[in-house]
Amino acid sequence: MSTDNQQNLIAGDLQKLIEEATNARNCALARYSNFCVGAALEAEGGGVFTGCNIESAAYEQTICAERVAIWKALSEGERRFKRLAVVVDTERLTPPCGACRQVIWEFCGDIPVVLANLRGDTETLQMRDLLPRPFDANFLEETGVEKK
Ligand code: THU
Repeated sequence: MSTDNQQNLIAGDLQKLIEEATNARNCALARYSNFCVGAALEAEGGGVFTGCNIESAAYEQTICAERVAIWKALSEGERRFKRLAVVVDTERLTPPCGACRQVIWEFCGDIPVVLANLRGDTETLQMRDLLPRPFDANFLEETGVEKK
């Protein structure tokens, strides 16, 4: 595995995005799993939207950090995104879950996803590699459903 650290790819502004995700992680409400996740989504215009995971006592209502960040950005009118950073304190860098991959693909497209932990390890993966052969709205249009 060739990580960002090995390639010396971490520019200052990426470091800042990782810091924002790390700060968001401190807000995680993960009392059932104790697995705290932070995300920071950078919009094309430079704005950053953060999220943490929030767990519900009725487990199913739990929401991941990545989707909180995306819903926040979309609900404030942002539509174009540059990259997403995800911070979890695991030795093996934690990638987004399957549900988040679908949502990232649909609303952010083929952006780079930067995985990081608290030890300074990072790795950048492209969404098309995280979600090969994705399902999206184009398939709905093929059956005659019109885009709104
Ligand atoms: N979680 C995230 O927030 N993002 C991921 O990509 C993986 C999983 C959260 C959901 C749940 O609160 C906890 O981590 C354990 O699955």
